[in-house]
Amino acid sequence: MPEHTVLYVLNGPNLNLLGVREPDIYGHETLADIQALCEAAAGVATVVFRQTNHEGELIDQVHEAREKASALVINAAGYTHTSVALLDALKTLTIPIVECHLSNPAARERFRHRSYVSPVAAGVVSGFGSFSYELAVKAALKLAQERSQSAGRSETTT
Ligand code: DQA
Repeated sequence: MPEHTVLYVLNGPNLNLLGVREPDIYGHETLADIQALCEAAAGVATVVFRQTNHEGELIDQVHEAREKASALVINAAGYTHTSVALLDALKTLTIPIVECHLSNPAARERFRHRSYVSPVAAGVVSGFGSFSYELAVKAALKLAQERSQSAGRSETTT
């Protein structure tokens, strides 16, 4: 993995309360614990880890990832199920996007079954608690690596 690989991990509303928020669903680990797991899973890649409770700020962070990231992991939390504006923002990215959830929304209430992130995600990791993030980070970095290798190959053939 090239050392300049930058992975953005974006987190939506209420995830700042992990550890105390519905621990039977979301577990006892805090968002800081999850950040540490992501950093360990990313190895030498740089992890930019953010959380916001505001839709517009999440969209600004997606725009920032568009400029600076090699790949994006996103747990948009409640905005996953509501935000057309987030989908529109994600559509402007060309880097790999991995959707991530602690719980498995497909096994929960019906309103959680729709995702505005999935249509633009390379894949979705959900239902494994904090391990979802580790898997999502690994998947995103693999996709980023494959992408940079295929870009390198096309440079040498043109
Ligand atoms: C979540 C699932 C969403 O349905 C919910 O609104 C969240 C967290 C998860 O990580 O399991 O806030 O994204």
